[in-house]
Amino acid sequence: MKFDTPAGTNPIDRMTVVGKPTPRIDGPLKVSGQAPYAYEHQDVPGKMAYGYILGSAVAKGTIRSIDTARAERAAGVVAVVTHRNAGKLGKGRMNTAHLLAGPQVEHYHQAVAVVVAETFEQARAAAALIDVDYARDAGRFDLVAAKPDAKEGTGSDAPSGAGDFEGAFAGAPVQIDETYTTPDQSHAMMEPHATIAAWEGGKLTVWTANQMINWGLKDLAATLQLPVENVRLISPYIGGGFGGKLFLRADVLMAALGARAAKRPVKLALQRPLMANNTTHRPATIQRIRLGCARDGKITAIGHESWSGDLEGGGPEAATQQTKLLYAGANRMTALRLAVLDLPEANAMRAPGEAPGMMALEIAIDEMAEKLGMDPVAFRVLNDTQVDPENPERPFSQRNLVRCMEEGAQRFGWNRRKAKPGQVRDGRWLVGMGVAAAFRNNLNQKSGARVRLSTSGEVSVETDMTDIGTGTYTIIAQTAAEMMGVPLAKVNVKLGDSSAPVSAGSGGQWGANSSTSGVYAACVKLREAVVAKLGFGPGEAVFEGGQVRVGNRTADIASAARGGEIVVEDSIEFGDLAKKFQQSTFGAHFVEVAVDRYTGETRVRRMLAVCAAGRILNPTSARSQVIGAMTMGVGGALMEELAVDKRFGFFVNHDLAGYEVPVHADIPHQDVVFLDEADDKVSPMKAKGVGELGLCGVGAAVANAIYNATGVRIREYPITLDKHL
Ligand code: MOS
Repeated sequence: MKFDTPAGTNPIDRMTVVGKPTPRIDGPLKVSGQAPYAYEHQDVPGKMAYGYILGSAVAKGTIRSIDTARAERAAGVVAVVTHRNAGKLGKGRMNTAHLLAGPQVEHYHQAVAVVVAETFEQARAAAALIDVDYARDAGRFDLVAAKPDAKEGTGSDAPSGAGDFEGAFAGAPVQIDETYTTPDQSHAMMEPHATIAAWEGGKLTVWTANQMINWGLKDLAATLQLPVENVRLISPYIGGGFGGKLFLRADVLMAALGARAAKRPVKLALQRPLMANNTTHRPATIQRIRLGCARDGKITAIGHESWSGDLEGGGPEAATQQTKLLYAGANRMTALRLAVLDLPEANAMRAPGEAPGMMALEIAIDEMAEKLGMDPVAFRVLNDTQVDPENPERPFSQRNLVRCMEEGAQRFGWNRRKAKPGQVRDGRWLVGMGVAAAFRNNLNQKSGARVRLSTSGEVSVETDMTDIGTGTYTIIAQTAAEMMGVPLAKVNVKLGDSSAPVSAGSGGQWGANSSTSGVYAACVKLREAVVAKLGFGPGEAVFEGGQVRVGNRTADIASAARGGEIVVEDSIEFGDLAKKFQQSTFGAHFVEVAVDRYTGETRVRRMLAVCAAGRILNPTSARSQVIGAMTMGVGGALMEELAVDKRFGFFVNHDLAGYEVPVHADIPHQDVVFLDEADDKVSPMKAKGVGELGLCGVGAAVANAIYNATGVRIREYPITLDKHL
């Protein structure tokens, strides 16, 4: 099905199942330990062996020699694979660095060997016996030092703008010109990257944890130089991804190579200390923002430049994305610049682009409002735009930023905020409130599904879509139940298997809307097949209560499958509506903090997010997504930072003891409100992404609240207590 005109009325609009707060249908399996995660699958034929990866001890250089003899003789060892005996390998399209080093080393902890043994402990012990002699090269590890050599982005990362930014900025009566920094961050998801690999002749099956099954499938086939049809990925449950599992990673490749050498299935999880440097991370940014305003508060010039680093061949963090679209202003400029660094591979982490970009932009907006003597909510409302400011003939499909701001202000008690900082005390605590807009683009991706109607009237859905803890199982079941007029309990959902139709996958907050739209398309076909099987004539078909009705004819839908189950398949494809209408999601974050006057310790006291993201398919799981995102936002504001060793080129705090994330005790009352929207220009579901929206802006709202509490403006994340001094 092609979606290229705004959606009319359709069966989803009934909202009898879709849109109802629904606990996740996979919840009981998860809490009872019956949902198998990558490392836990029991249905693998053959005697399992265990793999352990040895990561490179240098960031850049060459492996001069590698001696595996002692490891091979160690107790229980079945095989050792390095670049010397791995066979010819290609490289996946989505990988910047190779997943197996040698002889070149491209980054610290890049895999140099996998040891396969009878037990995990034996594999780990033997890995310590491998002797690698490295020739270490000098590397570039410091973004500040590399910044002058950074290159301008190209393609979608190219500079953009409108009008005459420099002239308008120079002539603006009120100006802001400030620089903000965000650090390298790690996904730090609970479940590490993990894979079980098993070969049967030339065919490979991997049980793994991957957000984008089809990307992983293609890249695994390309890396091992196998035909795609000889590879299968199975990934039904995933313990968090945040972008760290968008791509094929070393656990998959090394498990596959280990299993081929051992002639046995191999189970392998990346040990936690390897994760920060072996996998990808969100790169640090340096962002310069210039704003020019007229005295009445109208933005006349808005400029945002961002610098970040990546390995040769990588890409910049698109931190200026929101600045193209969020506020009005005739004269505009954005630019991304990429410095080559020899740190581990930089790549997507939750809401890449907007997440760090909003951390900077929304402080700058707060600073400008203060300089103008305006309330920061009123300043944002004044500078709202209903069209793409770079292309004013292009409206937003739907944009309710102002309503989010105003409703949030009212609910949060914003009118109690003191405009002058440092006014509110609570014993030793300085108390303040902060606000930021939320913004994240909405993307749609082609997505397919197969649906079946069984002889007993049950509906099942199969797609390679994934559930990374987001609630995909539930919203897909809700969609099929709504379309086929059956109760949720009559719907079966199978996800995360590359033998099923290719879906959008879980990334860029496009998963929910795209994948349910694919299920919608397949269900439209199934409805037609049911009506045809029953021989019902033309006319509008109503599916409800397990029955189908056309005119005055009614039958149980199960009766259509009496002669055998009905199976159909379809996908949703998106036409150019996204060119005619800018599709984005909006929100407002309000935060109250208390800062210890003497130590600078910050405690978040209250948080509220108001989100405008089209139809909310399941308010329960959507709320959980936003709560999780707000929590990650507090981490980004106050704690998260990969510390770079600039001499040797690695992230020092590569475990959960050193890489701090918020725990329950750090998080106070959080409230989430969804505006009642349905966006008919994005999909037949009229839904948009919401998970990543929940993160974008949170960090700045915390920073602005800290400023309001203390009068100290900190432009360097994370806002740790030393920065108050
Ligand atoms: Mo998201 S960073 O696209 O998983």
